[in-house]
Amino acid sequence: MEEDSKGESSMKALTRRGFIGMAATAGMATLAGCGSTSSSSSSSSSAATTEAATTSDGDLGLVEDGKLTMIANMYFPPFESMNDSTGEPEGFDIDLGKSLAEHMGLEANWLPSQAFDSIVPTIKAGGTADCAITGMTITDERLKEISFSDPYIDSNQALVVRSDSDDTEDTLNSSDKKIAVQAGTTGEEWARENLTEATIVPLDEIISGMTGVSTGSYDGLVIDLPVASNQIKNSFTDLKVIEQIQTGEQYGIAVNKDNEALLDAINTALAEIKKDGTMDSLEQTWFGTTL
Ligand code: ARG
Repeated sequence: MEEDSKGESSMKALTRRGFIGMAATAGMATLAGCGSTSSSSSSSSSAATTEAATTSDGDLGLVEDGKLTMIANMYFPPFESMNDSTGEPEGFDIDLGKSLAEHMGLEANWLPSQAFDSIVPTIKAGGTADCAITGMTITDERLKEISFSDPYIDSNQALVVRSDSDDTEDTLNSSDKKIAVQAGTTGEEWARENLTEATIVPLDEIISGMTGVSTGSYDGLVIDLPVASNQIKNSFTDLKVIEQIQTGEQYGIAVNKDNEALLDAINTALAEIKKDGTMDSLEQTWFGTTL
């Protein structure tokens, strides 16, 4: 229990500091947006700083002209997953990306799924994707490598076991217990900090972890709560959440640090999406409720 609250507060501190940083950026983006509307008619030559708010992609440093090229780890429903029959990606983040592109006057281009722990390095390196929309939590550690948009969703972690298990956080924190996590996630971080006695098993994708809990290969799993709830409701009815871990995480869109213009344009589009009701309807579609 003590370890639990310690883990929670350290993660909260991480995300809160991250959020304050982003809130400041958000304010700047909003001001830049306002400036663009009021000054564009009077001054045409000093428009460089406001380009990001326009639909012109000339200055956004896009990987491919006219397209918003996006990546995700596609095993994270209802945020992103591959539709078995169409072979196309689908989910909340996928639709958010399509809407972002539309608001920016660009074509949405989703790249094939990538391992989650390779996404920050890919965005940092540049040249492959313009942004990642992949249920990624804004953390101070990641902010050292990449930039994040304003937050678009709140999230927490969940500790999941089989429905017929009597395990608690305390009993899972034992050397004979195996806990599945997705490699490189905040869930892995929480598990390593709080279930120090257990064997933590990092996996490339977390849905196989759920299968593993179901078949008894793992005793439990740590995963973002919205994904746990969705999967337990729709696919893994033999699993249950034994603890909602209040990590106070927020998801943001990951952008290369050097691409300030693109980040501003994404934040401007995101603000419109929140304002014009698109965000509410996406939440309704993918969560059955507004959040
Ligand atoms: N929110 C967690 C994190 O940022 C997990 C994200 C996993 N996303 C995915 N598409 N698999 O670490």
